[in-house]
Order: sequence, then C-alpha cells, then structure tokens
Amino acid sequence: MKIEICDLKDLNLYLTKFVKELRDELIIYKLNGEIFVKSSICPHFGGEIYFCKNKKKLRCKWHDWTYCPKTGKCETYNIKTNVRNYKVSTYPKDLKNYDFFIENNKLYLNNDFT
Ligand code: FES
Repeated sequence: MKIEICDLKDLNLYLTKFVKELRDELIIYKLNGEIFVKSSICPHFGGEIYFCKNKKKLRCKWHDWTYCPKTGKCETYNIKTNVRNYKVSTYPKDLKNYDFFIENNKLYLNNDFT
C-alpha cells in the first residue's frame, strides 16, 4: 500500500498534511530543489512547525525553536544562564523523518512506517 501525500504542482514553499495512518501531520517542502518530508509537530510541546523561507530553517510557531531543514535536528536551546549549570537534554529533540518516493509527479510515502 502506498499513501498519496500531494501533487508536486501544489508544492510551492511548503505544505502540511495530516496523515491518518501515521497519526502525524507532515510538512513537505523544497530546499535547493530537494524535497523533504518531516513531522510538522514540534517535539518540545507540540507546536506547529513551518518552513521559514528567509532563514531556510524549520521553525516552531509556539516558542520559535529551529530545526535543521535537512536533518530535522533541533538547533535551538533556549536556556541562557550564568547560574548553576546542569547537563540538560530534550527528548525527543529531532523531527521525525519520512521516506517517500515520487511517481507520476505525485509524492507518496513508503509504507514501511508501521
Ligand atoms: S512547542 Fe515548539 S518550541 Fe515549544
């Protein structure tokens, strides 16, 4: 089974789509001609991720954390302090990646996500 996500002619800057089978909302975008598909739900607190064209970053609308548009790795850590230091990590801190393929100018997800 393959899941059709979008027609590439509809992909301008980016688009988001909820995929029931994944129980996840995806963000699909182009960067330097390459297409990427990731979860659009911020792992911090579930905010909405969007693609910022000017900075070429994925950003969260809620607390403005940024994510690498290629790897989905979190690039922001909003703790700036000169008091006691603790080693801190967030979990999970990277956006979920999805494998996809293009057929007849339409983008599909691979079905190996189950
Ligand atoms: S919910 Fe995304 S940065 Fe907080």
